[in-house]
Amino acid sequence: MQSPRAACHIAIIMDGNGRWAAQRGLPTRKGHREGAESLRRLLKHCKKNPAITHLTVYAFSQENWKRPASEVADLMDLLRYFFKAELESLLKEGVRLRFIGDRSALDADIQTMLAETEARSAHFSQLTLCIALSYGSRQEIARACQKLASKALSGAIAPSDISPEMLERALDTHGIPDPDLLIRTGGDERLSNFLLWQSAYTELYFCDVLWPDFSGEHFDQALEHFAARERRFGGRHVA
Ligand code: FPP
Repeated sequence: MQSPRAACHIAIIMDGNGRWAAQRGLPTRKGHREGAESLRRLLKHCKKNPAITHLTVYAFSQENWKRPASEVADLMDLLRYFFKAELESLLKEGVRLRFIGDRSALDADIQTMLAETEARSAHFSQLTLCIALSYGSRQEIARACQKLASKALSGAIAPSDISPEMLERALDTHGIPDPDLLIRTGGDERLSNFLLWQSAYTELYFCDVLWPDFSGEHFDQALEHFAARERRFGGRHVA
């Protein structure tokens, strides 16, 4: 089975903000700020490519709660700032926003901001920006299992009804296609609890560039790399 050569859904692990700042003798928060700027630039770049329908970015992992309280607070403030500065132009450009992760752990004002943003952009369809916040893939799968277990206990479904498709519908990413390509910047080659279920057949691309330095050109290189790969999804090569 061969797939189309264009990557429609790109997922990104935006790694390297801390090292970018350290290399310049700057505090970590400057690295994150530059990282947010890099995301803003990349979104503009993606808007120019009609093949791209979904972009999912790992902005704050469940494990990131273990970072120093001051860094967590800086990241949350950056999120507030990003929305204040960018939301109206994202909406004007017709970008739909979705959020995945455990929202209950976020401050109440951020939870409200996420819900309002999703509602305001729900009718857009050309490009969806999905932001993973307080996100861990294992936790997401466990939450989905809890939902299905409750339904089974109430008698709404039988345990034998549970299929991969049903589980998929209970994930935070319901309605979002699996990523075609997952990019990780910053030199490490691991998934770090990001989209483990959804990436079963995703092509992986690792690059050494630190996230704040990641440009549209780097992104296009990753897309070219993807276009050269043959995706068989477990099937045989078709000549
Ligand atoms: C990893 O870099 C990055 C993060 C933990 C946060 C990612 C956040 C952004 C790119 C900006 C915020 C986004 C929004 C939506 C406002 P690291 O600190 O682990 O880098 P290191 O590996 O070099 O230390």
